[in-house]
Amino acid sequence: MNLQRYSLPAIILHWVQAAIVLWLLWLGWTMVDMPKGAERTAVYGLHKSMGLVALLLVVIRLGWRHRSPAPVPLGQGWEVKVAQLTHRLLYIFLLCAPLSAYLASSFGTYPLKFFGIEIIKAGWPDEGINAVFKLAHQVFVWGGAGLVALHVAGAIKHAIKGDGTLRRMLPGGGV
Ligand code: HEM
Ligand code: HEM
Repeated sequence: MNLQRYSLPAIILHWVQAAIVLWLLWLGWTMVDMPKGAERTAVYGLHKSMGLVALLLVVIRLGWRHRSPAPVPLGQGWEVKVAQLTHRLLYIFLLCAPLSAYLASSFGTYPLKFFGIEIIKAGWPDEGINAVFKLAHQVFVWGGAGLVALHVAGAIKHAIKGDGTLRRMLPGGGV
């Protein structure tokens, strides 16, 4: 096993999930301002389905990470600590943002559908509990967006320095 690079499945999972999550953030903030109607309902449905895909992906990703650990960190002591903490918090965001939303929907009045197929809810209609998980979803997505900004800024800084950090998260290429 090469401890200097991410494995190909880890790289594919990272970029597919990064694209989905960035798109979900944009879609989430756009859809809440849409006027009520068929279009808004369709966009909400798509957001929920893709959000559940993101949840599935992070579970697969953590499973893969357990089997194939991340490469040894690059950089100075404090940089390594900040990067490791950010990665840990990113995983918490990736789990808690969709989970809190799934729970919010579980305690909502509408059926929960995954690309048109009704799926099991973990609760019953309850306005109070629904509001708590909705708020949790908002807190996680705002916190997560801040972390993503920090993470991308870190990646750009490493790319400018040319220390190989970005390259090891890209397919092909050496260390
Ligand atoms: C990583 C996954 C997800 C991300 C990044 C994400 C992102 C967002 C964002 C940015 C918003 C707007 C928040 C605001 O009003 O300030 C939002 C709202 C919402 N999301 Fe998600 N979401 C994800 C997963 C899910 C899932 C899995 C569901 C449902 C099963 C869901 C259901 C909703 C709903 C219903 C709203 C609207 C809440 C309201 O009307 O106040 N989201 N999401
Ligand atoms: C343009 C956007 C992005 C760039 C350039 C980027 C770049 C990178 C790089 C270079 C690494 C490896 C860091 C290292 O080896 O120390 C990494 C790891 C990681 N990225 Fe990103 N990333 C981006 C977006 C995202 C997004 C949107 C998420 C999720 C919300 C994310 C989540 C993660 C996580 C969790 C890791 C740690 C992987 C592990 O060690 O298990 N990234 N990213």
